Amino acid sequence: MISAPDNFQDEVELGYSFARDFWGLGLAAEISKAVLAVGFGSRRLPDVIAFTPVGHRASRHVMEKLGFQHDCGREIKDALCAVYRLRTPVKMA
Ligand SMILES: CC(C)(COP(=O)(O)OP(=O)(O)OC[C@H]1O[C@@H](n2cnc3c(N)ncnc32)[C@H](O)[C@@H]1OP(=O)(O)O)[C@@H](O)C(=O)NCCC(=O)NCCS
Repeated sequence: MISAPDNFQDEVELGYSFARDFWGLGLAAEISKAVLAVGFGSRRLPDVIAFTPVGHRASRHVMEKLGFQHDCGREIKDALCAVYRLRTPVKMA
């Protein structure tokens, strides 16, 4: 998890990329869950963003599976990207 650069100041981004031999093993979802648990747990982040070029269906599917909601479309590094956001779970008193 990294602080998002450029046009996402003050946002924290979840990012992932794997060598081809490691695609389709469930690693992106599994590792993301562990990282998000730290982000929303001890780091107390209010929300986390993730983005991918609009045509990357696998990556978008991973984000949606993790509970991210589509936030907006934005051009990032010359590519039209789908930006997703996941908010910290609301705690009931
Ligand atoms: C995108 C990427 C990170 C996914 O990692 P991964 O470890 O293979 O992802 P997972 O195995 O956790 O999950 C992939 C999911 O996408 C689904 N999927 C794969 N190809 C798909 C497609 N073309 N359209 C829709 N869903 C697709 C899989 O069925 C799986 O969903 P499921 O668990 O519900 O069956 C990996 O493929 C990658 O690094 N690609 C490199 C380039 C890239 O796309 N990078 C973008 C990073 S933002």
